[in-house]
Amino acid sequence: MSDTEIEALSAREILDNRLEPTLRVTVRTAGGTTGRADVPRGRSRGGHEATDKRDGGDRYRGLGVRDAVETVKTRIAPELRGRDVTDQAGIDASMGTLDGTADRSDLGGNAMTGVSLAVLKAGANAHDLPLYRYLGGPAATAIPVPVVDLIEGGELGASGLPFQEHQIVPRGAEDFAEAIRLCAEVYYELGDVLAERYGPGARSVGDEGGYTPSGLTDPREALDRLLEAIEACGYGGVFGLSIDAAATQLYDPDAERYRLADGTYTRGELIEYYADLASAYPLVSIEDPLVEDDFEGFAALSERLDAQIVGDDLFATNAGRIERGIDAGAGDALLCKVNQVGTVTETIAAVETARRGGYALQVSERSGQTADTWLADVAVGLGADQIKTGTTRSERTEQYNRLLEIADGSSGEYAEWPR
Ligand code: PGA
Ligand code: ZN
Repeated sequence: MSDTEIEALSAREILDNRLEPTLRVTVRTAGGTTGRADVPRGRSRGGHEATDKRDGGDRYRGLGVRDAVETVKTRIAPELRGRDVTDQAGIDASMGTLDGTADRSDLGGNAMTGVSLAVLKAGANAHDLPLYRYLGGPAATAIPVPVVDLIEGGELGASGLPFQEHQIVPRGAEDFAEAIRLCAEVYYELGDVLAERYGPGARSVGDEGGYTPSGLTDPREALDRLLEAIEACGYGGVFGLSIDAAATQLYDPDAERYRLADGTYTRGELIEYYADLASAYPLVSIEDPLVEDDFEGFAALSERLDAQIVGDDLFATNAGRIERGIDAGAGDALLCKVNQVGTVTETIAAVETARRGGYALQVSERSGQTADTWLADVAVGLGADQIKTGTTRSERTEQYNRLLEIADGSSGEYAEWPR
């Protein structure tokens, strides 16, 4: 028996930042090396994501993952026992075959994601390499530009803002350590700005640790406040602004209209709205500006605006959908989330497809996650240009702390924006 063969694979139910259940998967090799990974969970999930399997019933309001734990122990473990942890592609392919569905509804995308990432970590540990280096090789050294969600709305915040994230982008920083410091200083300043205008409750934060001021409903006002804080700090030259509209959540398919706070918009009207925003603000990126199947609308926006157009629900980290996007000219950046597709190998395929099409890469958190820092390593390992992992709360800041550590251990080069 070789040291890198899988001897044991187990899982347990743990809790994420929303106190909701998720999976923690552990792989142990014959040589005694382990790999452990926690599974994230989105709230504003797209329709093309791998299935997030939940128990249903009353327990944890139906969100338990005991069945998924059993699936790992009784169906996936027997299949993978004896396999080499360094054969990531082979292991992921076997899980794919065992599942046999397009939407990963048999084993569950959450069970598969946990196993795939735990195997990846065990492989890195078996080689005694940091995860980012094991995944990306010696070339994986650049630290991505953080896209930091300072004001939350939509499904993730308690504000009245229709768009989900209003972000700052420290594209002009010298290096990652400086980027994070500048973001933190703007965050402190913004807290004061919001509390003064909307009351002390405006300092409350949402699922991703950005502020959720309850009196705010107009995205332009949110961008004004971001600019006010940036300018009060004297960092005007460093920062661009960015939005994740998460427009699938705003779309009414029957009316074919998008609901914002001040009324409903057709696709054409919403495109005009973004064009106005882009001319009034230093907007460098818009994620999911339109509903998830509107490749044509994404293409029209990409044509129209200089800002980066990012596909999250549009692509669902799925190579086939990215192919379709490239053909249509839809967007120019991939939002990459491992659990949207279910395995590391399929994630790599999605990234390679996007890169061949000349797309930028933004590796992303989910609104539900734990303090497990595989995300930071995966971002560097995949050569991401950008990382999105929220703002405050430990499951967010631990990713930044890990990136600071990686920057110290590597060349510390800071990724360029754009691309
Ligand atoms: P989610 O939100 O993790 O709830 O899907 C993040 C995003 O939409 O980018
Ligand atoms: Zn999104």
